[in-house]
Amino acid sequence: MARRKKIYEGKAKILYEGPEPGTIVQHFKDDATAFNAEKKAVIEGKGVLNNRLSEFFMTGLGQIGVPTHFIKRLNMREQLVRSVEIVPLEIIVRNYAAGTMSKRLGIEEGTQLPRPIVEYCYKDDKLGDPLVTEEHIAAFGWASQQDMDDILSLALRVNDFLSGVMMAVGIRLVDFKIEVGRVYDGDFQRLIVADEISPDSCRLWDIETGQKLDKDVFRRDLGSLTDAYTEVAQRLGVMPRNQ
Ligand code: C5P
Repeated sequence: MARRKKIYEGKAKILYEGPEPGTIVQHFKDDATAFNAEKKAVIEGKGVLNNRLSEFFMTGLGQIGVPTHFIKRLNMREQLVRSVEIVPLEIIVRNYAAGTMSKRLGIEEGTQLPRPIVEYCYKDDKLGDPLVTEEHIAAFGWASQQDMDDILSLALRVNDFLSGVMMAVGIRLVDFKIEVGRVYDGDFQRLIVADEISPDSCRLWDIETGQKLDKDVFRRDLGSLTDAYTEVAQRLGVMPRNQ
């Protein structure tokens, strides 16, 4: 048996060198962390659910022409993805106030925003991913103006797609986070959606009851996280009801 080359281990995922140049194997762990890893737990089955859900969302985005890093799912916990140069930003899109926006601005959670609001955080665990402005991003050279135009367009297209898919199964997309990466094609570079899209990185509320079906269940001790994620997967038809 040959040992695989580990490229990176994060809080919820491990990246291994892929079988072909330019590919990476993304492994979803069962580890859950919140509040910049101050709260930690192993939640059996979370990795399997996020692998399937991220596959579902990334595939759907690909079908409507939004480029992503996803190539194919390999097994229960792993997917093959394109290797990218990650832009050091967490891109957050909000449709309803919640979480840090509610805290920062004193807006009650669940308040509908006048339009989707896009925020940028600088990806740095040691600093707790601080909120930054486009001025910081330009001044420190984290992304160019062209990149920022592309990022905004990607973020809003992902928002339209995810909101619609969720609405169709009775779930409100309150907010979500994406990451993007650079890929190079000859003289050109372009940005594609990378990392994962799963209930770890979205806020999802049942439209009727307001029940939370996302990582806030873990952050706020609201019950079983796997039950919540399984409910999302079953409503989307990603997992059968009787499993
Ligand atoms: O915590 P906050 O309210 O800023 O989070 C906004 C959205 O971004 C939530 O859906 C949250 O799950 C996601 N997020 C994330 N990773 C982070 C920060 C936020 O997935 N490091």
